[in-house]
Amino acid sequence: MAEVVIVENKTAAGALVADEIVRLIDSKADAVLGLATGSTPTSVYQALREGLAGRDVSKVRGFALDEYVGLDPAHPESYRSVITREVVDPLGLDPQRIRVPNGAAETIEHAGDDYEQEIIDAGGVDLQILGIGTTGHIGFNEPGSSFASTTRVKTLTEQTRVDNARFFTSLDEVPRHCITQGLGTILRARHLVLLAFGEGKAPAVAGAVEGPVTSMLPASAIQLHPHVTVVVDEAAASQLKLADYYRYTFANKPAWQGI
Ligand code: GLP
Repeated sequence: MAEVVIVENKTAAGALVADEIVRLIDSKADAVLGLATGSTPTSVYQALREGLAGRDVSKVRGFALDEYVGLDPAHPESYRSVITREVVDPLGLDPQRIRVPNGAAETIEHAGDDYEQEIIDAGGVDLQILGIGTTGHIGFNEPGSSFASTTRVKTLTEQTRVDNARFFTSLDEVPRHCITQGLGTILRARHLVLLAFGEGKAPAVAGAVEGPVTSMLPASAIQLHPHVTVVVDEAAASQLKLADYYRYTFANKPAWQGI
């Protein structure tokens, strides 16, 4: 099962995950990171500024989970812009080594397959950071997504558009389509780290970790993966039946194991 770590707050979560990423880069200079957008992983990227300071990150590679279709990559809320602003620039990564699915309409028919090939050519993702949507999506794999899916175009649910409208000037501006790594793509990463904060995420987290494995809750796909770490605050953990067991397990874990 997933290892669940219940932390005090976002900052503690960011520090924990950043430590693991630093450890990974120390052991593999050309580590491949799976990068998530949204508000959830920002504390990880923040902690990495300090964690990676002074280290050679010139060989680190990264693959974003998803992108909006048809949104100008220069738009401040395109995931290309977000990843550049929040990850590439502050951490001093090589922009050439950081890939984001191509949401341009002209090439969209083969953009998914192209992206899959790029991930394979890079040797696969070592550590995939994940947030979770209130619909239970990871990446932009909305309910009903196949567990075998690869990078492809998806239609966003109205709920996700409403959730993401806060990043745009109006709901109308939120694109209706996205291109996202599939659940099958995500499951091929060697280590999944899913983060969630706040009460609004509690039902999705409980479903993902303890509910039945079902495409109706795409994040439940993590139960099929051999190495998953779920990092949540108390509010996001509030519907977990085995919360006390997770606390006990983590408190008694040997430090050398990492996460
Ligand atoms: C978006 C992204 C997801 C992200 C989710 C949660 O839909 N495509 O990758 O996990 O939102 O967003 P937030 O972290 O802002 O709650």
